[in-house]
Amino acid sequence: MKTVLITGGSGLFGRYVVGVLGERYRVIVLDKKQPENPVEYQHGDVLDLTAMAECTRGVDAIVHLAAIPHPLDHPAEEVVRLNVMGTFNMLEVAARNNVRTFIFASSESTLGFAFAERKNHPDSVPVDEDHPLRPQDPYGMSKVLCEEMCKTYTRRYGMQTICLRMPWIWVPEPEEQKFYRELIDEYPKWYKNLWAYVHVLDAADACARALNRGYREEHRTWFITADENWTGIESIKLVREFFPETVIYKNRLPGAVSLIANSKAKTELGFRPERTVDDVFSTITAK
Ligand SMILES: NC(=O)c1ccc[n+]([C@@H]2O[C@H](COP(=O)([O-])OP(=O)(O)OC[C@H]3O[C@@H](n4cnc5c(N)ncnc54)[C@H](O)[C@@H]3O)[C@@H](O)[C@H]2O)c1
Repeated sequence: MKTVLITGGSGLFGRYVVGVLGERYRVIVLDKKQPENPVEYQHGDVLDLTAMAECTRGVDAIVHLAAIPHPLDHPAEEVVRLNVMGTFNMLEVAARNNVRTFIFASSESTLGFAFAERKNHPDSVPVDEDHPLRPQDPYGMSKVLCEEMCKTYTRRYGMQTICLRMPWIWVPEPEEQKFYRELIDEYPKWYKNLWAYVHVLDAADACARALNRGYREEHRTWFITADENWTGIESIKLVREFFPETVIYKNRLPGAVSLIANSKAKTELGFRPERTVDDVFSTITAK
Protein backbone atom coordinates (compact mmCIF):
# COMPACT_ATOMS: atom_id res chain seq x y z
CA MET A 1 0.00 0.00 0.00
CA LYS A 2 1.36 3.42 -0.94
CA THR A 3 2.03 6.00 1.76
CA VAL A 4 0.66 9.52 1.38
CA LEU A 5 1.70 12.38 3.63
CA ILE A 6 -0.99 15.05 3.98
CA THR A 7 0.26 18.37 5.32
CA GLY A 8 -2.51 20.41 6.93
CA GLY A 9 -4.52 17.20 7.31
CA SER A 10 -6.09 18.43 10.57
CA GLY A 11 -7.70 21.43 8.87
CA LEU A 12 -11.15 22.10 7.49
CA PHE A 13 -10.45 20.53 4.09
CA GLY A 14 -7.71 18.17 5.23
CA ARG A 15 -9.88 16.08 7.50
CA TYR A 16 -12.11 15.17 4.54
CA VAL A 17 -9.11 14.44 2.32
CA VAL A 18 -7.83 12.11 5.04
CA GLY A 19 -11.16 10.26 5.06
CA VAL A 20 -11.28 9.80 1.29
CA LEU A 21 -7.60 8.91 0.74
CA GLY A 22 -7.60 6.64 3.79
CA GLU A 23 -9.84 4.20 1.90
CA ARG A 24 -7.00 3.36 -0.49
CA TYR A 25 -3.70 4.58 0.95
CA ARG A 26 -1.73 4.57 4.15
CA VAL A 27 -2.24 8.18 5.22
CA ILE A 28 -0.02 10.18 7.55
CA VAL A 29 -1.15 13.63 8.68
CA LEU A 30 1.63 16.18 9.12
CA ASP A 31 0.28 19.19 10.97
CA LYS A 32 1.02 21.53 13.86
CA LYS A 33 -2.39 20.64 15.22
CA GLN A 34 -3.47 17.17 16.34
CA PRO A 35 -6.20 15.74 14.07
CA GLU A 36 -9.60 15.20 15.69
CA ASN A 37 -10.22 11.94 13.84
CA PRO A 38 -8.12 8.79 14.41
CA VAL A 39 -5.30 8.75 11.82
CA GLU A 40 -1.52 8.25 11.85
CA TYR A 41 -0.16 11.62 12.94
CA GLN A 42 3.20 13.33 12.77
CA HIS A 43 3.46 16.65 14.59
CA GLY A 44 5.54 19.10 12.56
CA ASP A 45 5.99 22.50 11.00
CA VAL A 46 6.31 22.79 7.23
CA LEU A 47 8.59 25.78 7.78
CA ASP A 48 11.18 23.46 9.36
CA LEU A 49 13.06 22.06 6.34
CA THR A 50 15.25 19.67 8.34
CA ALA A 51 12.30 18.13 10.16
CA MET A 52 10.34 17.87 6.91
CA ALA A 53 13.24 16.01 5.29
CA GLU A 54 12.92 13.42 8.06
CA CYS A 55 9.11 13.15 7.84
CA THR A 56 9.05 12.56 4.11
CA ARG A 57 11.47 9.61 4.00
CA GLY A 58 9.82 6.57 2.45
CA VAL A 59 6.71 8.51 1.44
CA ASP A 60 5.26 7.88 -2.05
CA ALA A 61 3.24 11.07 -2.44
CA ILE A 62 2.63 14.38 -0.69
CA VAL A 63 -0.69 16.20 -0.61
CA HIS A 64 0.26 19.69 0.49
CA LEU A 65 -2.59 21.57 2.13
CA ALA A 66 -0.89 23.38 5.06
CA ALA A 67 -1.26 27.10 4.45
CA ILE A 68 -3.07 30.20 5.59
CA PRO A 69 -6.24 29.75 3.49
CA HIS A 70 -7.04 33.44 2.84
CA PRO A 71 -5.38 36.84 3.29
CA LEU A 72 -7.91 38.38 5.67
CA ASP A 73 -6.83 37.55 9.23
CA HIS A 74 -3.04 37.55 8.93
CA PRO A 75 -0.39 40.08 7.92
CA ALA A 76 0.80 39.75 4.32
CA GLU A 77 4.28 38.63 5.36
CA GLU A 78 2.85 35.71 7.38
CA VAL A 79 0.66 34.57 4.50
CA VAL A 80 3.53 34.70 2.03
CA ARG A 81 6.05 33.16 4.43
CA LEU A 82 3.96 30.13 5.32
CA ASN A 83 2.36 29.57 1.94
CA VAL A 84 5.43 30.12 -0.21
CA MET A 85 8.24 28.85 2.05
CA GLY A 86 6.10 25.96 3.30
CA THR A 87 5.48 24.85 -0.28
CA PHE A 88 9.12 25.36 -1.26
CA ASN A 89 10.23 23.23 1.71
CA MET A 90 7.84 20.41 0.87
CA LEU A 91 8.86 20.40 -2.80
CA GLU A 92 12.53 20.48 -1.88
CA VAL A 93 12.31 17.60 0.62
CA ALA A 94 10.19 15.68 -1.90
CA ALA A 95 13.01 16.03 -4.40
CA ARG A 96 15.68 15.03 -1.86
CA ASN A 97 13.71 11.94 -0.81
CA ASN A 98 12.63 10.97 -4.31
CA VAL A 99 8.92 11.48 -3.62
CA ARG A 100 7.57 11.43 -7.16
CA THR A 101 4.06 12.86 -6.75
CA PHE A 102 3.10 16.23 -5.24
CA ILE A 103 -0.53 17.39 -5.11
CA PHE A 104 -0.90 21.06 -4.26
CA ALA A 105 -4.03 22.82 -2.94
CA SER A 106 -4.11 25.87 -5.15
CA SER A 107 -7.01 28.27 -5.43
CA GLU A 108 -9.28 30.24 -7.72
CA SER A 109 -7.61 33.21 -5.97
CA THR A 110 -4.78 32.81 -8.49
CA LEU A 111 -7.16 34.61 -10.88
CA GLY A 112 -7.16 37.66 -8.64
CA PHE A 113 -10.88 38.38 -8.36
CA ALA A 114 -11.77 37.07 -4.91
CA PHE A 115 -9.61 39.46 -2.84
CA ALA A 116 -9.10 42.28 -5.33
CA GLU A 117 -8.80 45.71 -3.73
CA ARG A 118 -8.90 47.51 -7.08
CA LYS A 119 -11.35 47.00 -9.90
CA ASN A 120 -10.85 43.68 -11.63
CA HIS A 121 -13.19 41.65 -13.80
CA PRO A 122 -12.94 38.46 -15.86
CA ASP A 123 -11.90 39.05 -19.47
CA SER A 124 -14.46 36.47 -20.54
CA VAL A 125 -16.70 33.80 -19.02
CA PRO A 126 -16.72 30.96 -18.37
CA VAL A 127 -13.25 31.47 -16.90
CA ASP A 128 -10.93 28.57 -17.66
CA GLU A 129 -7.27 27.65 -17.21
CA ASP A 130 -6.25 29.95 -20.13
CA HIS A 131 -7.51 33.05 -18.31
CA PRO A 132 -4.70 35.41 -17.16
CA LEU A 133 -3.76 35.33 -13.47
CA ARG A 134 -3.80 38.79 -11.89
CA PRO A 135 -3.71 38.51 -8.09
CA GLN A 136 -3.52 41.76 -6.13
CA ASP A 137 -3.46 40.17 -2.67
CA PRO A 138 -0.76 38.17 -0.84
CA TYR A 139 -2.81 34.96 -0.77
CA GLY A 140 -3.54 34.82 -4.51
CA MET A 141 0.03 35.87 -5.21
CA SER A 142 1.36 33.11 -2.94
CA LYS A 143 -0.65 30.48 -4.82
CA VAL A 144 0.62 31.71 -8.21
CA LEU A 145 4.20 31.55 -6.90
CA CYS A 146 3.60 28.03 -5.56
CA GLU A 147 2.23 26.86 -8.90
CA GLU A 148 5.40 28.24 -10.55
CA MET A 149 7.53 26.36 -8.03
CA CYS A 150 5.66 23.16 -8.83
CA LYS A 151 6.46 23.67 -12.51
CA THR A 152 10.12 24.13 -11.66
CA TYR A 153 10.29 20.87 -9.72
CA THR A 154 8.67 18.97 -12.58
CA ARG A 155 11.14 20.56 -15.01
CA ARG A 156 14.15 19.82 -12.86
CA TYR A 157 13.34 16.43 -11.33
CA GLY A 158 10.54 15.00 -13.47
CA MET A 159 8.35 15.19 -10.36
CA GLN A 160 4.60 14.84 -10.96
CA THR A 161 3.08 18.08 -9.68
CA ILE A 162 -0.67 18.64 -9.76
CA CYS A 163 -2.25 21.94 -8.75
CA LEU A 164 -5.94 21.79 -7.90
CA ARG A 165 -7.41 25.27 -8.09
CA MET A 166 -10.42 25.18 -5.83
CA PRO A 167 -12.91 27.96 -5.21
CA TRP A 168 -14.56 28.32 -1.85
CA ILE A 169 -14.76 24.81 -0.37
CA TRP A 170 -18.18 24.41 1.23
CA VAL A 171 -18.40 22.03 4.17
CA PRO A 172 -21.54 20.61 5.74
CA GLU A 173 -20.68 21.68 9.32
CA PRO A 174 -23.80 23.24 10.94
CA GLU A 175 -22.13 26.57 11.81
CA GLU A 176 -20.95 26.94 8.20
CA GLN A 177 -24.35 26.00 6.81
CA LYS A 178 -25.85 28.95 8.66
CA PHE A 179 -23.27 31.25 7.10
CA TYR A 180 -23.91 29.87 3.58
CA ARG A 181 -27.63 30.52 3.94
CA GLU A 182 -26.83 34.15 4.76
CA LEU A 183 -24.51 34.35 1.75
CA ILE A 184 -27.19 33.07 -0.58
CA ASP A 185 -29.56 35.75 0.72
CA GLU A 186 -26.88 38.41 0.20
CA TYR A 187 -25.38 37.13 -3.07
CA PRO A 188 -24.75 40.62 -4.59
CA LYS A 189 -22.12 41.24 -1.90
CA TRP A 190 -20.14 38.17 -3.06
CA TYR A 191 -19.65 39.01 -6.72
CA LYS A 192 -15.85 38.96 -6.39
CA ASN A 193 -15.94 35.24 -5.74
CA LEU A 194 -17.92 34.73 -8.98
CA TRP A 195 -20.33 32.76 -6.76
CA ALA A 196 -18.13 29.70 -7.28
CA TYR A 197 -17.87 26.86 -4.77
CA VAL A 198 -17.13 23.16 -4.55
CA HIS A 199 -18.54 20.64 -2.09
CA VAL A 200 -15.74 19.46 0.19
CA LEU A 201 -16.30 15.79 -0.71
CA ASP A 202 -16.02 16.56 -4.42
CA ALA A 203 -12.80 18.49 -3.76
CA ALA A 204 -11.45 15.56 -1.73
CA ASP A 205 -12.45 13.23 -4.56
CA ALA A 206 -10.39 15.39 -6.97
CA CYS A 207 -7.34 14.83 -4.73
CA ALA A 208 -8.00 11.09 -4.85
CA ARG A 209 -8.34 11.12 -8.63
CA ALA A 210 -5.10 13.07 -8.95
CA LEU A 211 -3.28 10.47 -6.84
CA ASN A 212 -4.98 7.53 -8.54
CA ARG A 213 -3.54 8.68 -11.91
CA GLY A 214 -0.29 7.11 -10.73
CA TYR A 215 3.08 8.63 -11.47
CA ARG A 216 3.53 10.44 -14.78
CA GLU A 217 6.13 13.05 -15.55
CA GLU A 218 3.76 15.99 -15.72
CA HIS A 219 2.73 19.35 -14.32
CA ARG A 220 -1.04 19.85 -14.39
CA THR A 221 -3.38 22.61 -13.22
CA TRP A 222 -7.16 22.29 -13.07
CA PHE A 223 -10.07 24.29 -11.71
CA ILE A 224 -12.05 22.07 -9.37
CA THR A 225 -15.49 23.66 -9.15
CA ALA A 226 -19.08 22.53 -8.70
CA ASP A 227 -21.13 22.39 -11.89
CA GLU A 228 -23.35 25.29 -10.88
CA ASN A 229 -22.90 28.65 -9.12
CA TRP A 230 -24.20 28.78 -5.56
CA THR A 231 -26.95 31.33 -6.18
CA GLY A 232 -29.14 29.24 -8.49
CA ILE A 233 -29.51 32.40 -10.61
CA GLU A 234 -28.76 32.31 -14.35
CA SER A 235 -25.06 32.95 -14.79
CA ILE A 236 -25.48 35.20 -17.83
CA LYS A 237 -27.81 37.41 -15.78
CA LEU A 238 -25.26 37.67 -12.94
CA VAL A 239 -22.45 38.61 -15.31
CA ARG A 240 -24.50 41.23 -17.16
CA GLU A 241 -25.40 42.88 -13.87
CA PHE A 242 -22.07 42.67 -12.02
CA PHE A 243 -19.42 42.49 -14.77
CA PRO A 244 -20.79 44.47 -17.71
CA GLU A 245 -17.32 44.67 -19.33
CA THR A 246 -16.87 40.88 -19.47
CA VAL A 247 -17.24 38.99 -22.75
CA ILE A 248 -19.87 36.26 -22.41
CA TYR A 249 -19.64 33.00 -24.37
CA LYS A 250 -23.34 32.31 -24.22
CA ASN A 251 -23.30 28.76 -25.57
CA ARG A 252 -20.95 27.74 -22.73
CA LEU A 253 -23.08 29.30 -19.97
CA PRO A 254 -26.41 27.49 -19.83
CA GLY A 255 -28.58 28.22 -16.77
CA ALA A 256 -26.71 28.60 -13.49
CA VAL A 257 -23.56 26.81 -14.70
CA SER A 258 -20.37 27.72 -12.82
CA LEU A 259 -18.62 30.85 -14.08
CA ILE A 260 -15.34 29.04 -13.43
CA ALA A 261 -15.33 26.06 -15.77
CA ASN A 262 -14.45 22.57 -14.62
CA SER A 263 -14.47 21.07 -18.12
CA LYS A 264 -10.71 20.57 -18.32
CA ALA A 265 -10.71 18.71 -14.99
CA LYS A 266 -13.59 16.58 -16.24
CA THR A 267 -11.85 15.67 -19.48
CA GLU A 268 -8.31 15.20 -18.20
CA LEU A 269 -8.79 14.14 -14.57
CA GLY A 270 -12.18 12.45 -14.83
CA PHE A 271 -13.46 14.89 -12.18
CA ARG A 272 -17.20 14.42 -11.60
CA PRO A 273 -18.69 16.79 -9.03
CA GLU A 274 -21.65 14.91 -7.63
CA ARG A 275 -22.88 17.27 -4.94
CA THR A 276 -24.96 20.44 -5.11
CA VAL A 277 -25.66 23.29 -2.71
CA ASP A 278 -28.60 21.24 -1.36
CA ASP A 279 -26.14 18.47 -0.47
CA VAL A 280 -24.02 20.93 1.52
CA PHE A 281 -27.07 21.45 3.72
CA SER A 282 -27.72 17.73 4.12
CA THR A 283 -24.38 15.82 3.97
CA ILE A 284 -23.04 14.20 7.11
CA THR A 285 -19.95 15.94 8.55
CA ALA A 286 -16.47 14.39 8.77
CA LYS A 287 -16.31 14.80 12.57
N1 LIG B 1 -11.05 26.54 2.51
C1 LIG B 1 -11.21 26.91 1.25
O1 LIG B 1 -12.29 27.37 0.85
C2 LIG B 1 -10.06 26.75 0.28
C3 LIG B 1 -10.28 27.06 -1.09
C4 LIG B 1 -9.23 26.88 -1.98
C5 LIG B 1 -8.01 26.41 -1.55
N2 LIG B 1 -7.83 26.13 -0.22
C6 LIG B 1 -6.53 25.63 0.22
O2 LIG B 1 -6.71 24.37 0.83
C7 LIG B 1 -5.74 24.22 1.87
C8 LIG B 1 -6.44 23.86 3.18
O3 LIG B 1 -7.32 24.91 3.53
P1 LIG B 1 -8.25 24.82 4.83
O4 LIG B 1 -9.42 25.67 4.58
O5 LIG B 1 -8.41 23.42 5.23
O6 LIG B 1 -7.32 25.58 5.90
P2 LIG B 1 -7.24 25.32 7.49
O7 LIG B 1 -6.67 26.56 8.08
O8 LIG B 1 -8.53 24.81 8.01
O9 LIG B 1 -6.17 24.14 7.59
C9 LIG B 1 -4.80 24.37 7.43
C10 LIG B 1 -4.08 23.35 8.27
O10 LIG B 1 -2.67 23.61 8.13
C11 LIG B 1 -2.07 23.51 9.41
N3 LIG B 1 -0.86 24.34 9.45
C12 LIG B 1 -0.79 25.69 9.45
N4 LIG B 1 0.49 26.08 9.52
C13 LIG B 1 1.24 24.96 9.54
C14 LIG B 1 2.63 24.73 9.60
N5 LIG B 1 3.51 25.73 9.65
N6 LIG B 1 3.07 23.45 9.59
C15 LIG B 1 2.18 22.41 9.58
N7 LIG B 1 0.85 22.58 9.53
C16 LIG B 1 0.39 23.85 9.52
C17 LIG B 1 -3.12 24.03 10.38
O11 LIG B 1 -2.88 23.56 11.70
C18 LIG B 1 -4.39 23.47 9.77
O12 LIG B 1 -4.71 22.20 10.30
C19 LIG B 1 -4.96 25.52 1.93
O13 LIG B 1 -3.78 25.36 1.17
C20 LIG B 1 -5.88 26.51 1.26
O14 LIG B 1 -5.17 27.58 0.69
C21 LIG B 1 -8.83 26.28 0.70
